Amino acid sequence: MKRTHHCNELRPAHIGQTVTLSGWVHSRRDLGGLIFIDIRDREGRTQTVFDPSDLRKELFAQAAALRSECVVSLTGKVRQRPAGTSNAKISTGEVEVAVVALEVLNMAEVLPFPVDDPEVANKVNEELRLQYRYLDLRRPEMARNLRTRSKVAIATRSYMDEQGFLEVETPTLFKSTPEGAREFLVPNRREPGTFYALPQSPQQFKQILMVAGVEKYFQLARCYRDEDLRADRQPEFTQVDIEMSFIEREDIYALIEGLLKRVWKVALNVDVPTPFKRISFEEALNRYGIDKPDTRFGMELVDFTDEFKTSTFKVFSGAIANGGVVKALNAKGLAGATQGQIETMTEYAKSFGAKGLAYIKVENGEWKSPIVKFFSEAEKAALTAKLGIQEGDLILFAADQWLTACEILGKIRLYCADVLKGQGKLTIPPDQFNFLWVIEFPLLGFDREQNRWYSSHHPFTAPVASDIPLLKTDPKKVRGQHYDIVVNGVELGGGSIRIHQPDVQKTIFEELLQIPPDMVKARFGYMLEAFKYGAPPHGGIALGFDRLIAILCGTPSIRDVIAFPKTAKGTCLMTDSPSTVEPKQLRDLYLEVKVKKPETAPAAPAKP
Ligand code: AMO
Ligand code: AMP
Repeated sequence: MKRTHHCNELRPAHIGQTVTLSGWVHSRRDLGGLIFIDIRDREGRTQTVFDPSDLRKELFAQAAALRSECVVSLTGKVRQRPAGTSNAKISTGEVEVAVVALEVLNMAEVLPFPVDDPEVANKVNEELRLQYRYLDLRRPEMARNLRTRSKVAIATRSYMDEQGFLEVETPTLFKSTPEGAREFLVPNRREPGTFYALPQSPQQFKQILMVAGVEKYFQLARCYRDEDLRADRQPEFTQVDIEMSFIEREDIYALIEGLLKRVWKVALNVDVPTPFKRISFEEALNRYGIDKPDTRFGMELVDFTDEFKTSTFKVFSGAIANGGVVKALNAKGLAGATQGQIETMTEYAKSFGAKGLAYIKVENGEWKSPIVKFFSEAEKAALTAKLGIQEGDLILFAADQWLTACEILGKIRLYCADVLKGQGKLTIPPDQFNFLWVIEFPLLGFDREQNRWYSSHHPFTAPVASDIPLLKTDPKKVRGQHYDIVVNGVELGGGSIRIHQPDVQKTIFEELLQIPPDMVKARFGYMLEAFKYGAPPHGGIALGFDRLIAILCGTPSIRDVIAFPKTAKGTCLMTDSPSTVEPKQLRDLYLEVKVKKPETAPAAPAKP
């Protein structure tokens, strides 16, 4: 019996036709002597009816023995559902198939969890879903995610093709490089003690492709990073990786805005307005306390450094005297926070390096706070004016070095937004997408412990041309030609204009990052060499493809949009990997495993 239609196809226009459907038994109900089976395939489901008065006895008995997820093919006549029994929730809901023939293709055992329940993701332990991923993926929600992923991949490829890009595959057996996250290593059996590394991104290959004259490259590239995993991080993930020659930052902005516009249209039928807003790293930190601001709500940070310079409240004036700042935010409507809740918030702030979290609750026309007694009338007036203080507000302060103060209040801002959402005081429409380019990042950061500079993005990022002289005199002030694309507080992607002059690249490696020359030669020598033979100016970007799909599917976890993701511990519960190997395999690789008692990991700071 070969299927004639899929399970989301039949409409009143098919009434009277004899059809064959194939799929899984989604649900079975026995009602008034009839058996109703909803048959489901990838496309949807259709109600079928087994009527004992029309069927051979054994056929009816077979239908009665079917349970959820058995695989069947059935043939029958399409008919109108009796008045009052149509189901508006499914597209085939006006018709049903009166079955005349059934073929049971396979039986199914009792399932570890039901696949016909849309609430499974909330009710069932995720580990169980991952162990039986093939069942989890049958659920319509997950099937929809896979479909969105496929559609977006195809739309991406056709957009990039239209823009004149070549898709080029780059190796996944690569070489260890000292920058960035921890790598996955692959031992080389041909030369003991040597290893490939799985690439963290195709960064170096794509730049070499520019030297090779490819001009416009893209790839849906698999990347590997052995880092701490979270909802938005997997050890292997996919990037839409892009590089172009003879371009400026504006070209990348326009290209990506066009790509995201296309993708949002294809996946959600939403018209995204372009161009996207832009914000400098400094402004993002000043206003939102984070370099990937969620601008769907306000609660912005306000600076009070000038106002509290000479304050009698020493916590504030002392921090300022130390070169720091005082910043505050107004969490409107949170004055009802209990002492316990404020303590929890303070502990949370402390886990990010805060020394405390001064606050004012505005209740019954009164400022309730252990610190207002130190404030002058002028200070109070400034707070009221700049924060728009009203009844019901909770004001929170950070006094610290600029970056620390911003980051602490940035975390507190998101924390308060979550609390307000929980209380129904802050609602964000699910179809609101605030795209934002974050630009003008500092090229370098300073690592106090190691007493050396590190690249904010990666060491191939070009400095802003007018800042190049500062590389020798004031590296902290040098801005990089780096950009991040952010949507609703998620860092979707990042990239930069690259250094294409071998001497500038060498200076960055050796003088600023203090990588010893022999190590530079061993790790990046081939790149510096390539750059000697006519490297065009170039730049690019990589979008996190999994994050992109998660946003489009409205899920907070990228695990929901990856067919076979790893757990937070980096394991695949379905295949039980990673796993041990035979001693012979180790011998072939000249490896020996010396198992030491694992050190106890330091306790992670409590999450709110
Ligand atoms: P970057 O390291 O910023 O840049 O990565 C680009 C984007 O990849 C996504 N991403 C991840 N997604 C899932 N799991 C992970 N572990 C993970 N790590 C990163 C993020 C991120 O914004 N070669 C440069 C790009 C360039 O300069 O062109 C790079 O890899 O969405
Ligand atoms: P203290 O004088 O240390 O008792 O602090 C008084 C109040 O200021 C308490 O509510 C502390 O949480 C808060 N506080 C202390 N240090 C800071 C700081 N650096 N930034 C913001 N608030 C602080």
